[in-house]
Amino acid sequence: MHRRNFIRLIGGGAVFAATAGLSACAEAPDPTTAWVSPGSSQRDVRLYALAHAILAPNPHNRQPWLARLDGDDQLSLFVDRTRLLPATDPFGRQIVIGCGAFLELLSIAASIKGYQAQVLPFPDGQPERSFDQRPFARVTFVKGGAADPLFRHILRRRTSRDPFADQKIPRADLAALEAAGLAPGLRTGSVSGGPGLEGLKDMTKRAFHREVDTPAANQETVDLIRIGAHEVAEHRDGISLTGAPIEAMKAVGILTRENLAKPGTIAFKQNRSFCDPLCDSARAFVWIVSHGEGRMLELASGRAYARMTLEATARHVALQPMSQALQEYPEMAPLFAESLRRTAVQPGERLQMLVRAGYAAEGPPAPRRGLAAHLRAA
Ligand SMILES: Cc1cc2nc3c(=O)[nH]c(=O)nc-3n(C[C@H](O)[C@H](O)[C@H](O)COP(=O)(O)O)c2cc1C
Repeated sequence: MHRRNFIRLIGGGAVFAATAGLSACAEAPDPTTAWVSPGSSQRDVRLYALAHAILAPNPHNRQPWLARLDGDDQLSLFVDRTRLLPATDPFGRQIVIGCGAFLELLSIAASIKGYQAQVLPFPDGQPERSFDQRPFARVTFVKGGAADPLFRHILRRRTSRDPFADQKIPRADLAALEAAGLAPGLRTGSVSGGPGLEGLKDMTKRAFHREVDTPAANQETVDLIRIGAHEVAEHRDGISLTGAPIEAMKAVGILTRENLAKPGTIAFKQNRSFCDPLCDSARAFVWIVSHGEGRMLELASGRAYARMTLEATARHVALQPMSQALQEYPEMAPLFAESLRRTAVQPGERLQMLVRAGYAAEGPPAPRRGLAAHLRAA
């Protein structure tokens, strides 16, 4: 089993370890099956493409996507409204970014089978602040187009939650990441040294603390933490905590969802400081900014972010979004304003993604619920 933990000792030697790693669980299905030869048994190119699309990065691993097969060559794609993040993502901006990433992987996978996925975003109109029953995209699969070389990095892409090695990212690689994240209506930026880098390390740390100190935001995350292999395998979504120390702390009642939500407990303190070494070890930050706001630009940002992550995978650069400061709840407002200053975002623009970058060993894949969970009847 591949497992890289952060382990620290506090208060009398209790151990808290957090990892995206997964342990085997005898009774439940393997939560990473979706990453093994996705869609290989599918004859319908739409199902093949969907089997790859569900591997897209998405906020809190909610996997908020539903697909309906229309006729022989179309898909309608919907936001799963039971899988939103109302406290940390009150307007669903990040959810739509996750939908954009899904669309990009769908298109890339279709290209490998000799199809163009022609995407019509929000074909029946755009939802404003909250989602409704209308699709976020209608996709028609048409023969033609070139195979997208980013395809071969889909199965190795990960969100890293490890401290990064003390190794500078070459300027050419950062430039390539930025180029991959460009699209009409978007611009990218990055910083890899000096006060700009130090300032963002410090700000992302404070934003994470602010989130954990905000009860509603923290509770939303805590509710999605899967503690131990059994819970991970049962839910196949959310944020996984696994490994022998986790199982031990769970068994003795130190690591519970109740404690994670209760200031002063070991579990709460460990969770609060979880991101400190991650932020401190950032070798660069990369960001995506849209010229203006709105659902179309959120979708475009998600597509761009997906391409950026695949380009990073190709170059062995690890990425982790640090989204707390970008979130739109009142307690975060001062840090939201600070994030704009630190990335030189201008009035009328929107900071869509802020991502730390560096080098880390490749971790195990995050769980997925599998293709069948995303198919919606007509
Ligand atoms: C809009 C968006 C925001 C995200 N924000 C964070 C974040 O703040 N911290 C983090 O560790 N991961 C963040 N992620 C990454 C997801 O948690 C990750 O994609 C998900 O858990 C699935 O894991 P995977 O990317 O390894 O497949 C974000 C992803 C997206 C698309």
